[in-house]
Amino acid sequence: MRAVVCEEWCDYHDLKFKEIDPPQMKEGCVRIKIRYAAVGFAVSLFVAGKYQRKPPLPFVPGIEAAGVVSEVAPDVRRIRKGDHVVAVLDWGGFAEEAVVTAETVYPIPKEIDLATAVPLPLTYGTSYGALHWRARIIPDQTLLVHGAAGGVGLAAVELGRLAGARVIATASTEAKLDMARERGAEHTILSGRSDLIRQVKELTGGYGANVIFDPVGGDLFEASLRCVAPEGKILIVGFAGGRIPQVTTNILLVKNVELIGYNFGYYVGWGLTDERKRYGERNRAMMCELSAAVLAGSIRPAVSRRYPLERFVEAIDSIMERRSMGRVLLEV
Ligand SMILES: NC(=O)c1ccc[n+]([C@@H]2O[C@H](COP(=O)([O-])OP(=O)(O)OC[C@H]3O[C@@H](n4cnc5c(N)ncnc54)[C@H](OP(=O)(O)O)[C@@H]3O)[C@@H](O)[C@H]2O)c1
Repeated sequence: MRAVVCEEWCDYHDLKFKEIDPPQMKEGCVRIKIRYAAVGFAVSLFVAGKYQRKPPLPFVPGIEAAGVVSEVAPDVRRIRKGDHVVAVLDWGGFAEEAVVTAETVYPIPKEIDLATAVPLPLTYGTSYGALHWRARIIPDQTLLVHGAAGGVGLAAVELGRLAGARVIATASTEAKLDMARERGAEHTILSGRSDLIRQVKELTGGYGANVIFDPVGGDLFEASLRCVAPEGKILIVGFAGGRIPQVTTNILLVKNVELIGYNFGYYVGWGLTDERKRYGERNRAMMCELSAAVLAGSIRPAVSRRYPLERFVEAIDSIMERRSMGRVLLEV
């Protein structure tokens, strides 16, 4: 099969595109003919060996994909050959076929096209889990989302609005802010503005945001500490801006603020211990809810561009150069 292969820890420009043997079937797994794989910011870290998880070399990157099941291990009951599925993979998505643990494979209704569905399990899963499982967001709270036109950011805007929150979005360009407004942000602020903190305060009656979703880190995280409401929560989702901020804890004490470390991977088997079975039922319930929301038209996963598999470098470039909005897909 054709696949993108990481033979040694490298810059993503040095990944190989080549013919390799399809992966072998294993107990508890299904084989998926991949139609689309999502490209996220983390792939650049993953292939450089700078991610918290390091697969054995050589490996095929790609952790979120959609396709059709072509083979099912005898011990798997929930999934059938021919099912349309989306999946969270340990790795292996940038290829024509992948063998994935059934625990993180989710059948989806055939009315949802696979390109729309591909960001549901990991991109939307990340934002859903952050807002509901960790921050326990409730209607009428104010949610501030940074990097709001990125993959997980835009999902957080839609899911926050769906949860009844009032969403304030930040992003680096007017086009990205337009996208966030189109998906449900009530107010938007350019992230480079020096008066970002004042604007958030003004929009919240001087109070601040109740929940802050931060996949960017750096200066935006520091701004968040100053515009989070008393008893507010800051979700630490990622550091796409490149700087991991340090915290001076007195602000947390004075404002009764919770900092919430968040790793969705923990729930799908990527933690220090493999917890995918323990959280399997909850992940499946979330996927049913997300599929129903797509069918009802209450979320509309955005795909900024599709690239053929062999043009994976251009796809990753579009993310690293901050040109993408929503998810970028590889079409297999
Ligand atoms: N904790 C978890 O479970 C989890 C799960 C998935 C992803 N993540 C992390 O969340 C972050 C976002 O992931 P994603 O896949 O949504 O990425 P993405 O689609 O590329 O979005 C990232 C956003 O970050 C902003 N950004 C700021 N500085 C940037 C820079 N120097 N380079 C690139 N982007 C920059 C960009 O928005 P502006 O241009 O508007 O600033 C961009 O839209 C990553 O750090 C990823 O590793 C964490």
